[in-house]
Amino acid sequence: MAKGKQTKPDDFIPALINQDKNQTKFSSTFSLDNELKKVIDLFPEGVMITDLEHNVIMVNKWHALLDYFAEDELVGKNLFDLHKEGYYTELTSWMRSKDSIHMLIRTKNNRVLLVTGKIIWQESRDIAGWFYTLQDVHDFRELKLVLEKRAAIPSAFNHRGKQEQSPEFIYKSKKMQSIFNTMLKVCWADSPIIITGESGTGKDVIARKIHELSNRSGRFVHVNCPSIPETLFESELFGYETGAFTGAKKNGKPGLFEMAENGTIFLDEIGDLSYNMQSKLLQVMQDGSFRRVGGTRDLKVTARVISATNQDLKKLIADGKFRADLYYRLCVIPIHVPPLRERTEDIPILADHFLQELNIKYGIRKQFSQGLVDWMLSYSWPGNVRELKNLVERLFVSSSKNIIQFSDLGFENLDEAIAHSCYKEDITLEEAVANLEKLLISRALKETPNTRDAAKSLGISQSTLLRKAHKYGIDTS
Ligand SMILES: Nc1ncnc2c1ncn2[C@@H]1O[C@H](COP(=O)(O)OP(=O)(O)OP(=O)(O)O)[C@@H](O)[C@H]1O
Ligand SMILES: [Mg+2]
Repeated sequence: MAKGKQTKPDDFIPALINQDKNQTKFSSTFSLDNELKKVIDLFPEGVMITDLEHNVIMVNKWHALLDYFAEDELVGKNLFDLHKEGYYTELTSWMRSKDSIHMLIRTKNNRVLLVTGKIIWQESRDIAGWFYTLQDVHDFRELKLVLEKRAAIPSAFNHRGKQEQSPEFIYKSKKMQSIFNTMLKVCWADSPIIITGESGTGKDVIARKIHELSNRSGRFVHVNCPSIPETLFESELFGYETGAFTGAKKNGKPGLFEMAENGTIFLDEIGDLSYNMQSKLLQVMQDGSFRRVGGTRDLKVTARVISATNQDLKKLIADGKFRADLYYRLCVIPIHVPPLRERTEDIPILADHFLQELNIKYGIRKQFSQGLVDWMLSYSWPGNVRELKNLVERLFVSSSKNIIQFSDLGFENLDEAIAHSCYKEDITLEEAVANLEKLLISRALKETPNTRDAAKSLGISQSTLLRKAHKYGIDTS
């Protein structure tokens, strides 16, 4: 719950106490009433009290129940030290709301917790310490599921037939953190968003997450553009009135824009729309309104438009295949999702997430060996997160032991594994060399106690090793 320079809770103290600036003094002394322990044990969630320096003073029973720490093991520990020892990783940086700060963390035993911190004031307006609550996000998800079932939303209103659960959005890299920050900043507005990135990078996940974060009252309607035939484009998107054309339903039909009323319409694979369909969409984006086919009333667009593509739209524009004016309408907020090979920090956490999902589903506890994780870090993942997810499932199902090993990949020998990492059909020499470097540097760092020895074992200088490790996003700490 503590972090490096940028996000530690202390940064929020001046902001939180601003209004009392004149009367505030800091104090590191802190005493608690004995009765307090009994009271905090009654909390249904985790409670932790620390002093100003984040030394743990008291925790409630919940921590022991989590099988994370025994109560007395935690008391006296410093949160910064726990973080350094890897007892938890941060999934987000601190976010502030009113007088609290919030962060999502993942514990060593793979629980995702929402941590909320508040300052404990003394009567003298000195700061006594911090009061944290920790909630298992799983509980929220289950509650949400129950509530959704109770609401018994009529499936006819949902384009896909049923309201889908928003998938979890997992990341650790700075690149994805920055994308998440953008999502938080822009989710509340109506401005169109375009999400670009290679296939399998998570564009769909991001679109759904933005909708979820936005708290819009309407639904998320996913439109797979290439699957709509040109002749039906207008009637599918904008709906039609009674008797608009032969074969039309008797009472007319609302279109996808209407179904997404006050919600989000997600125009997926937008690069595949024909020029003619693009012109129709442009008209709606310009006017902010549309008409059902055969209708006379203008209907206002109240849905937020998010589009996505794995194609290079600028190139399509240059080739005369995509309308530049539509592009600029859709691209008010661009979000580019980098391929997995450019954010290797996300690989272990994603692999672990997919593995835990399967562990939970089948009630098993499988783990990855370090050798396998090293290989994952060096592989170039042309199919991105989707390929990683599929591989985890294949390994989970096919390996007979609880520790899934590098050998379960089924490579005949190490040379084949390296070749698999470094070679794919359309790879450039530069990319292949980079993959091999990544593999060898990660392995050397694992097998030697420090960067100097790792550099020596590879026959390069320590500064070259550090520079290359930084370039490939390999952790050298
Ligand atoms: N950050 C993430 N956290 C958790 N799961 C993810 C993440 N990114 C992607 N996935 C998973 O990977 C798979 C592919 O993601 P998604 O469908 O969003 O990719 P995409 O960019 O839309 O691909 P395409 O261009 O082929 O449509 C999905 O199963 C998704 O749940
Ligand atoms: Mg997609």
